[in-house]
Amino acid sequence: MYRVAIVGATGLVGGTFLKVLEEYNFPIQDLKLLASSKSAGKKITFQGKEYIVEELKETSFENIDLALFSAGGDVSKQYAPIAEKAGAIVIDNSSCWRQDPTKALVVPEVNIEDVTMSRIIANPNCSTIQSIVPLKALDQAYGLTRVVYTTYQAVSGSGMKGIQDLERTLKGEDPQFYPYNISKTCIPEIDVALENGYTKEEMKMVHETRKMLHKPDLKISATCVRVPVMNSHAVSIMAELEKPFTIEEVRCHLQNFPGIVLVDDLKQHQYPVSLLSNGNNQVYVGRIRRDLSTDNGLLLYTVADNIRKGAAANAVQIAVEMHKKGLIK
Ligand SMILES: NC(=O)c1ccc[n+]([C@@H]2O[C@H](COP(=O)([O-])OP(=O)(O)OC[C@H]3O[C@@H](n4cnc5c(N)ncnc54)[C@H](OP(=O)(O)O)[C@@H]3O)[C@@H](O)[C@H]2O)c1
Repeated sequence: MYRVAIVGATGLVGGTFLKVLEEYNFPIQDLKLLASSKSAGKKITFQGKEYIVEELKETSFENIDLALFSAGGDVSKQYAPIAEKAGAIVIDNSSCWRQDPTKALVVPEVNIEDVTMSRIIANPNCSTIQSIVPLKALDQAYGLTRVVYTTYQAVSGSGMKGIQDLERTLKGEDPQFYPYNISKTCIPEIDVALENGYTKEEMKMVHETRKMLHKPDLKISATCVRVPVMNSHAVSIMAELEKPFTIEEVRCHLQNFPGIVLVDDLKQHQYPVSLLSNGNNQVYVGRIRRDLSTDNGLLLYTVADNIRKGAAANAVQIAVEMHKKGLIK
């Protein structure tokens, strides 16, 4: 049984941590719910018991075995090392540690063996998580040589502020968060603009894919787009493969890979949609077909719940695997 702290417990991802911990029946002895000073004193019920949210402080991690962070990069940067020093395993949802070569970056179906690299473990970017699961299946079977991503990312990926901006603009009010009215347009800008013409979100997908596949030179580019959808991201993926393939064989490899649900019958209107993925932890894969513009290219389309598999569920699945291996304490 573990003493668990949730940092950002009042947020979208934090609240989902609690749901997923309960669903996995994670062995919790004590639970500490942490957020900013404005939430201190709020009550949250977990497994029938009421907990009071506390303000995050440097002393918050005494006697904690596992700390799940989802309160943004600045909070993670400041407090994750404090939690680690106090003896906790940290699983962090921000982008703060993902590119640190001394920190593990893990999707359990893909590279759980990396989890022993560090006691602060980074949870990858939401769109990368759902893309890398089928890409790992393809890499194992055929060898990946090139990847092109285009994402269609839901507003819940921006947290409460994103959801509220879609709700407000749907009612005809002016946007307060996104630079344009998200109820009326897609926005091809997620996270800050970088000097190379890409956004930080796009470069996260590039770097994180390379790190988890242990392929530092893999050719990748990405375009990330915010769309007027409440929840669940979609990603269109072009994957170039080393070895020749048949579509039937590819379907087989994907279907047999853990975490994937294949939904691929276009004529019957069967393909991944948010309505399937919302509220569960699977990666839905479909629209599998040969890319017509390259010799050995494959196109596929994935959808997953960005708050679950893209954030909270992936983090809890890491904790569950670490528990099974006796790595938490
Ligand atoms: N949404 C997604 O799809 C997604 C996916 C992957 C990763 N993430 C990452 O997860 C993190 C949280 O995202 P979210 O969507 O859950 O955002 P959110 O709904 O806005 O929640 C933010 C949480 O952080 C807490 N917080 C903010 N500043 C704090 C501070 N100074 N000290 C302590 N707690 C603080 C907030 O507490 P108060 O309520 O007290 O303000 C709240 O609990 C971010 O790093 C985000 O990048 C999100």
